[in-house]
Amino acid sequence: MRIPHGVTDELKRLAPGRVSLQEPMAKHTSFGLGGPAEVFIEPATASSFKDCAALVADEGVASRVFGRGTNVLVRSGGVEGVTFVAGAAFSGITRSGDAIVAGSGVPLPKLLSFCAEEGLAGLEGLAGIPGSVGGAVVTNAGSYGVSIADRVVQVIVFEPGGEARAIQAPDLAAGYRTAKLPRRAIVESVTLRLEADDSASIAARQQATLEKKWRAQPCGMRSAGCVFKNPVGQSAGRLIDSAGLKGARVGGAVVSDLHANFILNDRGASAEDVEELIELVRTTVRDETGVDLELEIEIVGRRAR
Ligand code: EPU
Repeated sequence: MRIPHGVTDELKRLAPGRVSLQEPMAKHTSFGLGGPAEVFIEPATASSFKDCAALVADEGVASRVFGRGTNVLVRSGGVEGVTFVAGAAFSGITRSGDAIVAGSGVPLPKLLSFCAEEGLAGLEGLAGIPGSVGGAVVTNAGSYGVSIADRVVQVIVFEPGGEARAIQAPDLAAGYRTAKLPRRAIVESVTLRLEADDSASIAARQQATLEKKWRAQPCGMRSAGCVFKNPVGQSAGRLIDSAGLKGARVGGAVVSDLHANFILNDRGASAEDVEELIELVRTTVRDETGVDLELEIEIVGRRAR
């Protein structure tokens, strides 16, 4: 569906200087892949974000919200409709006692630095996760025994055209890489309950997590983190590794030699190379072990025509 010009013009009025047409999503994903977003908006303020989201919903235009694009594969044909980025509009971090309220657009590494500076412990296991706070809440990001939901008190969300409201932690029913939010809800901020500790110990624990991760995972390479969820009681990485798939390649996409649940864009891959490699991994593991791996990353957009 093409977005009517009138709608695009109105969005440009509501978010001046923050709307681009045919924006390459490769610039906004950790894979460095993805065709153009038909309309791409990173509103500067929360009110501009809400006005744009309400207009887009009223006009019946498809939309989606991106965080930092670190858990997603965008296909080469690009994304129809409006792609919002939460970044600037929801970028505040404040402390209140042992709690932090963080905007959904805050990068997790920035949240962790804030925790260390403020002497607030509890999130150290999340060091090295590159995504945004909003993305982390929606997917209940975790590592080394810590999931963000362990610390969430409440999440403030809004639905396009509606008022902001609070969802309390138990209502999120968070599980392994899942959390339950109303279908059209957009995360605005999250309140996290932490524990006072000294800054140096927190920073040291964060550093230890990072070092463990650097040894085990291909950090700093173009990827979207773990591609598949771990099946109950098993490790997707180990299954892929034992199927002999480390180093398996389609075009410029390769299964990491360091951790088999990572696919890297190491030689100018296309999104289709990555998708084909995902299928190769899935069918090989299914044939060899009978286990059906489930995607952890999200694949969005149209295939190249
Ligand atoms: N293993 C292999 N070969 C490999 C990879 C792993 O044999 O190629 C073995 C390891 O030796 C280890 C076991 O599999 O015995 C588990 O590996 P690891 O400790 O690396 O953890 P994981 O289960 O593969 C999970 C998360 C990661 C998270 C780490 C650390 C999932 C899908 N993955 O990986 O999360 O960083 O634990 O807690 O839940 C992500 O979500 O994107 C992600 C990377």
